[in-house]
Amino acid sequence: MQALAGKVVIITGASEGIGRALAHAMAPLGCKLVLTARDRQRLDSLAEELANITLCPPLVFAADVTSVQECQQLIDASVAHFGAIDILVNNAGMTMWSRFDELQDLSILDRVMAVNYFAPAYLSHCALPHLKASQGQIVVVASVAGLVGVPTRSGYSASKHAVIGFFDSLRIELNDDNVAVTIICPDFVVSQIHKRALDGHGKPLGQTPMQESKIITAEQCAQMMLPAIAKRERMLITSMRGRVGRFIRLIAPKFIDNLAKKAIASGH
Ligand SMILES: NC(=O)c1ccc[n+]([C@@H]2O[C@H](COP(=O)([O-])OP(=O)(O)OC[C@H]3O[C@@H](n4cnc5c(N)ncnc54)[C@H](OP(=O)(O)O)[C@@H]3O)[C@@H](O)[C@H]2O)c1
Repeated sequence: MQALAGKVVIITGASEGIGRALAHAMAPLGCKLVLTARDRQRLDSLAEELANITLCPPLVFAADVTSVQECQQLIDASVAHFGAIDILVNNAGMTMWSRFDELQDLSILDRVMAVNYFAPAYLSHCALPHLKASQGQIVVVASVAGLVGVPTRSGYSASKHAVIGFFDSLRIELNDDNVAVTIICPDFVVSQIHKRALDGHGKPLGQTPMQESKIITAEQCAQMMLPAIAKRERMLITSMRGRVGRFIRLIAPKFIDNLAKKAIASGH
């Protein structure tokens, strides 16, 4: 984990869930953190929590990463403050929870795609000159839903397939610049995302449909991410069913379809 000491790390979606847990995990390693999300108060409270465990106070920068302009402002502020960018963690995301034939508001598909696919592409483009200069790393928090189809998450699954395809392509382009691309595919994690998931009318569910005692915590997910980031690995899939399922799907796709259906029905 020494590889991460002193690195300037931008974490999007740092106000909640996996991003917040990752900030807690990286701060004691000596990372210089830029914490970003839209909710300034939640970011400030995180910065206060981190004050006791890091020697380097984080930069807090509130931004909506679906705006190219705000992405550029975030990158400019990070470089002005820390002088470089070593690791960009594209973690901010949102989801939906509705069968496609029950969607009343089709703009849900646009909203999910904007945060989960376009935002990481925009922000990475803004950060690229600095990442090339530092021979740095892009980390993308995708999902196992980016590797297989998932019912009630069609738009989410599409956005995660898109982001994986995008960053698998970008990895090849950046190979000669020695900029690494690490794709993280979490299985279910306890966080705010399930309560915030949009129903068929585009409104947040308000309560989680997950069985939270049966899925990993955001802290566990962050601890799994650290070595994958430090070793600049291509991809991390957090669950055994996610890792094995990719291969089983090649020979028995219907079995994996049923597994995905059961996972959604049972909430774990
Ligand atoms: N939890 C899971 O089961 C799970 C599984 C697989 C993959 N993932 C992925 O993990 C990532 C993190 O999700 P999470 O579970 O930690 O969710 P979460 O607790 O809901 O956190 C999502 C974060 O994204 C930020 N965000 C959302 N829209 C944004 C926008 N337009 N601009 C800037 N920030 C925005 C939120 O902050 P503000 O509201 O303050 O902006 C929040 O900090 C996502 O990409 C998600 O798809 C999660």
